[in-house]
Amino acid sequence: MDVNATNIEEIVRQVLNSMEGRQPAANSGAGSAPAGAIPKTAHVAMLTSLEHYDVKEFPIPEVGDDDILVKVEGCGICGTDAHEFKKDPFGLIPVALGHEGTGEIVKMGKNVKKDSAGKDLKIGDKVVTCMIFKDNPDITMYDLNRQNVGGADVYGLLPDDDIHLNGWFSDYLFIRGGSTVFNVSDLDLYSRILIEPCAVLIHAVERAKSTGILRFNSRVVVQGCGPIGLICIAILRTMGINHIVAVDGEEKRLEFAKEMGASDTVNFKDHKGIEALAGAVEAKFDGHLADFAFQCTGSPMAHANIYKFIRNGGGLCELGFFINGGDATINPHFDICSKEITIVGSWVYTLRDYATTFEFLKSAKKAGIPIEKLITHTFPLEEINEAHRTNLAMSGLKIAIINK
Ligand SMILES: NC(=O)c1ccc[n+]([C@@H]2O[C@H](COP(=O)([O-])OP(=O)(O)OC[C@H]3O[C@@H](n4cnc5c(N)ncnc54)[C@H](O)[C@@H]3O)[C@@H](O)[C@H]2O)c1
Ligand SMILES: [Zn+2]
Repeated sequence: MDVNATNIEEIVRQVLNSMEGRQPAANSGAGSAPAGAIPKTAHVAMLTSLEHYDVKEFPIPEVGDDDILVKVEGCGICGTDAHEFKKDPFGLIPVALGHEGTGEIVKMGKNVKKDSAGKDLKIGDKVVTCMIFKDNPDITMYDLNRQNVGGADVYGLLPDDDIHLNGWFSDYLFIRGGSTVFNVSDLDLYSRILIEPCAVLIHAVERAKSTGILRFNSRVVVQGCGPIGLICIAILRTMGINHIVAVDGEEKRLEFAKEMGASDTVNFKDHKGIEALAGAVEAKFDGHLADFAFQCTGSPMAHANIYKFIRNGGGLCELGFFINGGDATINPHFDICSKEITIVGSWVYTLRDYATTFEFLKSAKKAGIPIEKLITHTFPLEEINEAHRTNLAMSGLKIAIINK
């Protein structure tokens, strides 16, 4: 399948179309649990023009029998938000962005009893929403390219409407009945904000496992130590994989890779030419090439390089290209055929992966992996423009809005 920016745009449009016309249920005036001091208005950061948010005030709507009102605690800034901030590729402005968010239920309709995994829901529970599809827990974005799968919820990428409380960059979010929502009260705030990017890696590791090559004692290369590669390392480590070599060009990120569980690191800037670089990786595995590799950069050159790190009969998971990053040049004979490499691609996640992610985050904590350190900068809602500029400057890893 040709995954490019147009596909993504179409997919997001399909998702958005499936949400259009969905209004909150009429308020029954009954069935809501006591809600404490809920204000009459909410603050929502609306992207009103390119590279500019205004924090606007809107009335909090009546909560219908199937709806949930959440007091937002925080929300991570995603690459998609950065695209919207800079270029509005989906034509959503004015839009309430923010989909990597979490908060506490302060009011809910009388019909709301369970979350999307069947867990009980009550006032005070901490929740997240998910952008994937409730009808079939194994449906991925990839399936959306082939069929129009309805029932998706993308709070933080919805067209503006008369509710306005549609994104997690806000102090209150209005979750309409029928949305996908998970009770994640047993996770701390930073873990909850990291659920969405972690789900991407849970999916990638599941794809990698489907090759049958990734095993407990595998030697694994993770190329690219941005948030995606770092989370990949944390998951592999949590699974008990001990031999992980991280490759990047930034020393600070390589140090971070060790904190996440990499056994060793290679700075590609220290090695001239691919032969020398592959030799450096091999040396870190005591003279062996890798059994498996994860490609976690958006660089076509890095894709071309990674085959040289993998042994004959080894495997590769390519997940670095969420959007079209251009063509890569490889040699099909040397890189794939004669080595019998097994390659899997990975894109986004399924609802099932989302639920697995909650367990991973708990296991990572127990294993002492400081996953929360991935959030390097936090800003209050009113400084959201600065938060986005900091994100674009790429001086940190994950940037998050944290409400007071
Ligand atoms: N498959 C999916 O569903 C999915 C989801 C989210 C993001 N992504 C993609 O994953 C990629 C990584 O995301 P991120 O947030 O970590 O990005 P990032 O830009 O923060 O990190 C990329 C890292 O790769 C390093 N790098 C660049 N060229 C390299 C090379 N030749 N060799 C080794 N390292 C190199 C950079 O120094 C950087 O640390 C992005 O391209 C993004 O589009 C994919
Ligand atoms: Zn995201």
